[in-house]
Amino acid sequence: MHIHILTLFPGMFPAYLNESILKKAQEMGQLTVHLHNIRDYATDRHHVTDEPPFGGGGGMVLKPEPIFTAVESLISSLQSPLESGDWRLETAGLPVILLTPQGRPFTQSIAQELAQQERLVLLCGRYEGVDERVRQHLVTDEISIGDYVLTGGELAALVVVDAVTRLLPGVLGAEGAAETDSHANGLLEGPHYTKPADFRGWSVPEVLRSGHAARIARWRREESLRRTWQRRPDMLLTAVLTEADRWFLGRLAEERLEIGD
Ligand code: 6GU
Repeated sequence: MHIHILTLFPGMFPAYLNESILKKAQEMGQLTVHLHNIRDYATDRHHVTDEPPFGGGGGMVLKPEPIFTAVESLISSLQSPLESGDWRLETAGLPVILLTPQGRPFTQSIAQELAQQERLVLLCGRYEGVDERVRQHLVTDEISIGDYVLTGGELAALVVVDAVTRLLPGVLGAEGAAETDSHANGLLEGPHYTKPADFRGWSVPEVLRSGHAARIARWRREESLRRTWQRRPDMLLTAVLTEADRWFLGRLAEERLEIGD
């Protein structure tokens, strides 16, 4: 996966990208991240990237020219010189994703969708916004990471890079680790324990130390259902549930368990 990030603040990215799993994914050759400073594509003497909005009002709006130039030069650099033909942006097939609080809410299923792509362009909005012609004629998708306002799309772009990278083949050590994640199967994950078996008198549930694989699997499933029931009951409406799951949830409903165990 090759990810291109267009931003006015490329310096915000390396600290996060160069540690842990994202670092490993790059070393493995599964991920390359190219940072492009939008300001480098402004052709005027002072490299102006934003202007006040037409019609007045507060704040600044990112100008269209440097952003179009940045994406177009990216597309040219990807296009083989031998491959003649259609250079229109909409047929280039390159996803250009604007990070904006007005975008579609980012979910695990969108991360899975994006992880199938060979390349992504992430465009970080800033200030009050981006000239509407960028949205209309350049951007192919708009993503928000939640219902709150950030000062810019940079953190959101890192969130997308992180969520997508851990889904790339071989990036997570344990086989199937991404499959049991919270949200991957439509449920929250249940509790995890490690050594010591007893910590300050708080002990690990006996079933996890029983070595009985089927009982452990059923216990984990039920704890996952319990946690989802307590914290995100909305998710139970769309999760894929077995008869045994439904029976267990029925029991929870009768017991009226409280949040926080
Ligand atoms: Cl993608 N950008 C900004 N500026 N704020 C946000 C966001 C994105 N997602 C949630 N809040």
